[in-house]
Amino acid sequence: MPQTPGPSIPSECGRRRSPEQMFVDVHCHCLPGLDDGPADGQEALALCRALVSDGVRAVAATPHQLGRYDGRYRADDIRQAVAQLRATLLEAQVPLTVLAGADVRIDERIPDLVAGGQIVTIGDRRRHLLLELPHDIFVDPVPLFDRLASIGIVAVITHPERHPFLARHPDYVERWTEYGPCLQITAASLTGDFGTLSQEAAWAFLDAPLPALVATDAHATSWRPPRMREAYARLHQRLGRLVARMLCVENPLRILRGQEALTRTPGGMQGVMRR
Ligand SMILES: [Fe+2]
Repeated sequence: MPQTPGPSIPSECGRRRSPEQMFVDVHCHCLPGLDDGPADGQEALALCRALVSDGVRAVAATPHQLGRYDGRYRADDIRQAVAQLRATLLEAQVPLTVLAGADVRIDERIPDLVAGGQIVTIGDRRRHLLLELPHDIFVDPVPLFDRLASIGIVAVITHPERHPFLARHPDYVERWTEYGPCLQITAASLTGDFGTLSQEAAWAFLDAPLPALVATDAHATSWRPPRMREAYARLHQRLGRLVARMLCVENPLRILRGQEALTRTPGGMQGVMRR
């Protein structure tokens, strides 16, 4: 099973520091020259510095796979680019841990490609898959959830609040409950950068009976910057410190480590949260 060798996630991500200094980001286009993220190493370094300034300490580098990027680069190219970015960050003394991942467009070939090591799961742990739905039509991912479950993989659905159908029907995701996918809400949606519909839907999805987390889906410093600190502040103000921490630190860290994410419930949280 191909996995990216490299550093373990720093322990201070989950403890010691204040949450604003230890965000974990499971969705970020920070590898240079692969997709619509940074064009070169300089831009990638600038984006990584912006992540650190925004309080992010560990990130999964998740270039697009399949969809319009089908066949453009291989999973091993992603792993190699991650190793190169780690070396660059070490040399530049940027304190950011980078693990491999991919932002994978829904495709019936995914289970076979995961089994063959050709799709990179979050942290390359073969436990969670960042799954992107097409924007122009709605494709219900339930049949894929079922097939992924048979090989031990849980989907993390990227930014449902930015999907035209789901944003207007946030209750729809309750049909997915038995498969327990995680909802990835984009930080910039919570701050209103993608408009009112996405912003209101983002908050609505946080009430769904499913695990959720916040990620940057950042692409560059100039457009689609991280926005994690501002999103955390709004979450803290509206839902309290524990929930904000669960969404921006605890659940992303769990998923980066290949562990089950927590679900917010009316009575608290399902699962065991560290102190
Ligand atoms: Fe993305």
